[in-house]
Amino acid sequence: MPEREHSAIEIADNVHWIGALDPDLRSFDLILKTANGTTYNAYLVRGAGGAAVIDTVKEEFADDFFTRLEAVARYDEITAVVLNHLEPDHTGALPELMRRAPQAHIYVSMRGLKLLQAVLKDDLERYAYTLTNTGDSCALGDRRLSFVNTPYLHWPDTQCTFLEDARLLFSGDVFGCHFCDVRLYNDLVGDFRFSFEYYFKHIMRPFKRWVLEAVDKIEPLEPVLIAPAHGPILRDNPMDYVRSYRTLSNSYLPNEVEGKEKSLLIFYMSAYGATADMARSVYEGASTVSGVRVSLYDLQGGEIEPFVDLIESADGMVFGSPTINGDAVKPVWDVLASLISIETRSKLGGAFGSYGWSGEAVPMIEDRLRGLKMRVPEKGLRIKFNPTEDELAACHAYGRALAENLSGKAKPKEIDFAELQ
Ligand code: FEO
Repeated sequence: MPEREHSAIEIADNVHWIGALDPDLRSFDLILKTANGTTYNAYLVRGAGGAAVIDTVKEEFADDFFTRLEAVARYDEITAVVLNHLEPDHTGALPELMRRAPQAHIYVSMRGLKLLQAVLKDDLERYAYTLTNTGDSCALGDRRLSFVNTPYLHWPDTQCTFLEDARLLFSGDVFGCHFCDVRLYNDLVGDFRFSFEYYFKHIMRPFKRWVLEAVDKIEPLEPVLIAPAHGPILRDNPMDYVRSYRTLSNSYLPNEVEGKEKSLLIFYMSAYGATADMARSVYEGASTVSGVRVSLYDLQGGEIEPFVDLIESADGMVFGSPTINGDAVKPVWDVLASLISIETRSKLGGAFGSYGWSGEAVPMIEDRLRGLKMRVPEKGLRIKFNPTEDELAACHAYGRALAENLSGKAKPKEIDFAELQ
């Protein structure tokens, strides 16, 4: 292993990278593929009046972190520990760091306190801490670290920390990516564009509204160096990455359906044609409502990723699935499972399907939609075997009711308490 893999690396005047390399990681948080591994970046900032540690590393890499930290500072010199984000990949070494430097003052966002309690347990009582908000700062004598709250990028607790004299932004997960390269800087490492966009898409995309708010706060700082918690340090054109967050947050299928018009998507799978018949009637019923653009998709003929893009910009979606072995069919679950990467809160949802014995698919889909914080305003439709004419009329009415709800034309409903049990 080359010498520098064990060294702390000075990235700015009296600012050192003291993180850890994890080149063998192949999946992160169970949901991200990491073909290049990742890094857990932590930093030490030294000023005339103290030294600050910015973030730590995953617990199993604590030895690397402490080795690098000890190369540039003594524990009794550490006056501040700044936590930009408290997920375990950045706080794994925190309990041990605080045992070694108990005099250090912890800086954490207000939303981070509960997580800090969970990380340090009863030991937290032994340490001093300050809850930060945008504009608050921490002095290291001649240097100042100021805090920028960036909630939901990608957890509620996240913040960035700006070293004012160096115009260096310690950005936590923001502007990071899973890409391990010992050359460390964006102008030296391999081509990591795919990793950067992949990371955004899976980590930040559900919070695009918050990303745009954060970019509004970060752009005026005009950082000349961005030091994220994962992947390359951005020293070559760092503002390009800030702008790219804005672009990525505004992309993904510009809305075809605009203005007051609403978009309703109907997805289905059918084993013997019965659920397909239902889907066509739901589609025809919904299409009778003006101001709602309705689209019908057979999941047998589609790929998931484009559907997720469509769903992101839609106002409502309905899933039709037969019940097979007491469950909805896999392609429906595949789409529903993929929705964690987009914002679905308060979109309209619905479910329907044909069944033979028990018909669990519809309520299971509805539960998932509610779990995604979607509105499910109409009780889903279950029909045994092939639908009769009357049952197809019920499907038609169901589609119409959903579309009316989307368009604001639905009449107020009287709640039947029996249905709530
Ligand atoms: Fe890198 Fe959200 O932890």
